[in-house]
Amino acid sequence: MQQLKVELGERSYPIFVGQGLLERPELVRPYIRGRQVCIIADDCVAALYMQKVRALFDGFDVDQVVLPTGEAYKNWSTLQQIFDRLLEQRHDRKTTLVALGGGVIGDMTGFAAACYQRGVDFIQIPTTLLSQVDSSVGGKTGINHPAGKNMIGAFYQPRLVLIDTATLNTLPQREVSAGLAEIIKYGLIQDALFLDWLEQRMPQLRALDAEAITEAISRSCAIKAQIVAADEREGDIRAILNLGHTFGHAIEAHQGYGSWLHGEAVGAGMVMALEMSRQLGWLIDAQFERGRSVIAAAGLPVTPPENMRPDDFLRLMAVDKKVLDGKLRLVLLRDLGRAVVTAEFDHSILQSTLQKMTHES
Ligand code: NAD
Ligand code: GLY
Repeated sequence: MQQLKVELGERSYPIFVGQGLLERPELVRPYIRGRQVCIIADDCVAALYMQKVRALFDGFDVDQVVLPTGEAYKNWSTLQQIFDRLLEQRHDRKTTLVALGGGVIGDMTGFAAACYQRGVDFIQIPTTLLSQVDSSVGGKTGINHPAGKNMIGAFYQPRLVLIDTATLNTLPQREVSAGLAEIIKYGLIQDALFLDWLEQRMPQLRALDAEAITEAISRSCAIKAQIVAADEREGDIRAILNLGHTFGHAIEAHQGYGSWLHGEAVGAGMVMALEMSRQLGWLIDAQFERGRSVIAAAGLPVTPPENMRPDDFLRLMAVDKKVLDGKLRLVLLRDLGRAVVTAEFDHSILQSTLQKMTHES
C-alpha cells in the first residue's frame, strides 16, 4: 500500500492507495469519531460494493442511502434524499458520511457533510479512476445548477481517502478513458516527465495493468495534494487543475449533464486549450501534436461535439467559476508541463480557436 498526505494543518488527511483495501477495516476505524456511519452510493456501485463496504464498518451503526446513478442526478433533489435519511435515522453531529462511488457521489456526499448540522465528518472511497485521481482529493464538493456545472458547493475536506484499485476491475472502458483525461492533465500542467511516462504506458494504463495504474494514481494524487496544500481555496495556483475544464464544462452543460462524460469533455477541452496555446505562440506545432496524441491514445474525444458553435461556448463559458470581475480567465500552456491562469489573452485568438475547433469557417 502507498500512503500520501494532504497537508492542511489540523485538517490534514491521508490518501491510502492499494489493491484490496476494502478488506482492511483497521485502515478506516481510526478516522471515525462516533458510532454512526452512513454510506452513500449510487445504485450501480451499491449493487457491486455496498455489502463489502458495510462489512468494512462492522461494529458501527451502519446506515446507507442509495441514489440514482449519473451526472443528471447531481442536484438539489438528490441531495435532499441524503438529508431526509440522515434526519429520519437521527444521525447526530458525530456521524460519518462515507462517499462510495465516483465523483458525482463524492461531490454530493461531501457537500451533504459540509451542510448537515453545519458540518460532519466524511470519508472518500472513490471507485472510478477519475475520482481516484482527482475528485476525492482536495475538498471541492457540490452540485450542478442547470445554468452551470458545480455552481453550488463548498470547500470541505474529507478525513480520509481510501483508494482500492481493485474496484477498477468492474469499471467500463469508457469510464477508464474519462479517468485518464485527468491523469494526462497533471502531466500537461505540471510534470513533463510524467507526461513522457504516460505516453509510453498508455496501452498498459487502458488495460488497467496493476503496477502502471497504481503508479499513475499515486503520482496524480501526489501532484494534486501538493497543489491543494499550496492553495486550498483556489485563490491562485489551484486553478491550473482546471486545464480544459472551462471548455469542457461548456460541453457538458450544452449537451445535457451525463451525455458526455466529464472526463470526455475535459479531454476535448484540453485539446482546445492546447490549440489556443499554439495560436498564442506559446506551443510549437509538435508540442500541440504530442498533447493531442496522448489524449487520443487514451480513447478520448479530441474535438468538441459537432452541434456546438463558437457562440455556444462563449455563452456557457461566461458562467465559469474562473470568471472574475466579469473577465474570463483560462488555463493555458506556456510549455508542456507548465500551465498558467490568465485573463490577459487576445480575445480574437479565443474566437479563432473556437472557430477552428468547431469547424466553423
Ligand atoms: P460518476 O460518479 O458519474 O461515475 C461514473 C459511472 O461509473 C457511474 O455510472 C457509476 O455508477 C459507475 N461506477 C463507479 N464506480 C464503478 C465501479 N468501480 N465499477 C463499475 N461502475 C462504477 O463519474 P466520475 O467520472 O467518477 O465523476 C465525475 C464527476 O466528478 C463530475 O460531476 C465532476 O464534476 C466531478 N469532479 C469533481 C472534482 C472535484 O475536485 N471535486 C474533480 C473532478 C471531477
Ligand atoms: N478538479 C479541480 C480541483 O480540484 O481544483
